[in-house]
Amino acid sequence: MIPITKPVFDDDDLALIQEPLKSGWVVQGKYVQQFEDHFNGFTGSRNSVAVSSCTSALHIAMAALGLQPGDEVLVPAFTWIATPNCVEYMQARPIFVDVSLDTFNIDADHVERHITPRTKGIIPVHLFGLPADMAPILDIANRHGLWVVEDAACGFDSWYKGQHVGTFGEYGCFSFHPRKAITTGEGGMLTTQRRDLAELARSLRDHGASRTDLERHEQKYSFLLAEYQHLGFNFRMTDIQGALGVTQMRKAEVIMAGRREAAARYNDLLAEVEWLRRPFQDSHSVHGYQSYVCLFQPQVPRFATHDAMFNRRNAMMASLEAKGIITRQGTHAPPHLHYYSNKYQIRPHDYPNAYMAERLTVTLPLYAGMSEDESEQVVEQLRAVFKATSGTRAA
Ligand SMILES: Cc1ncc(COP(=O)(O)O)c(C=O)c1O
Repeated sequence: MIPITKPVFDDDDLALIQEPLKSGWVVQGKYVQQFEDHFNGFTGSRNSVAVSSCTSALHIAMAALGLQPGDEVLVPAFTWIATPNCVEYMQARPIFVDVSLDTFNIDADHVERHITPRTKGIIPVHLFGLPADMAPILDIANRHGLWVVEDAACGFDSWYKGQHVGTFGEYGCFSFHPRKAITTGEGGMLTTQRRDLAELARSLRDHGASRTDLERHEQKYSFLLAEYQHLGFNFRMTDIQGALGVTQMRKAEVIMAGRREAAARYNDLLAEVEWLRRPFQDSHSVHGYQSYVCLFQPQVPRFATHDAMFNRRNAMMASLEAKGIITRQGTHAPPHLHYYSNKYQIRPHDYPNAYMAERLTVTLPLYAGMSEDESEQVVEQLRAVFKATSGTRAA
């Protein structure tokens, strides 16, 4: 069995997560703070604010930036559903922008045509660890007076022109779900260069409180509760997760080296395989390889004729699953999920690249410590199931 991913846990993780249990302080406390400090150090962000998930990080970002009912926010049409959902939570409207089928990221050339007087911001996503093309996005945002919130759920150790993703816009939002390179079970992080936005995010993660529980307990008159200045949430990370975050950060370089090694091996093994396009790379980005997502393209993907390729991809993935090799579609195209297509009357041809990306992507297993033998097995079996499915037709 070769799983899609494997988190890296060792004795350090096992030891430190016991500390909050031993001390009895298990809610957001000193380990969450240490995790945030590590995250600042790694990413170069001035401020990091740990929360319960990337979804809650995005939700806080929308609330902190004052998104109002009826406002519009531009989001890519190929991303996890959390990206548009955080706009919906505020009764605002996500406006989908089609992606590039080469990079799977928002197509900067399509952004400007979707801007209206109601547009307030853009949420570029660094999908699968490939940085979105931030220079044109920031330029458009500046010219139109829009904020930028980076969905960096998959962006750990992803760099754009030498700068870590998540540090360009008003906020960056990261995920520590187990499909990500480092994990705290569930968990997320907001990054921001602005101190005022960091303070607001800290307050909003804890119901809008003026000080944290830890600060209150460390001060005189700890029996007096905080003041509540904003309508906030309970999006706090526990200190058990914080402790795990600390030990995960301590070995982040090693984990990432292992993941990059596995990705480089696929790049070599798949170099001659024309029907499976490898993840995009360019000279100004460093790919974080949260996932190794390929495009299945035995022919040039065209919206009108890609059904047979979609069926064949699924047949191949089913055969791999039967052999114990676990793959996944890259992610989904939210505008084509029932909630959005029904609410906004969206049809597949409105976002053709996102639609094809959903139906033609294949994520290969990738984790630190993946052996050469495992990588070779994956590619060998891929070749075998490709041959075996040559007769697959459109439904
Ligand atoms: C692009 C993107 N945004 C947001 C999220 C949500 O992250 P979380 O599960 O931490 O809420 C994910 C999760 O996979 C994601 O891939």
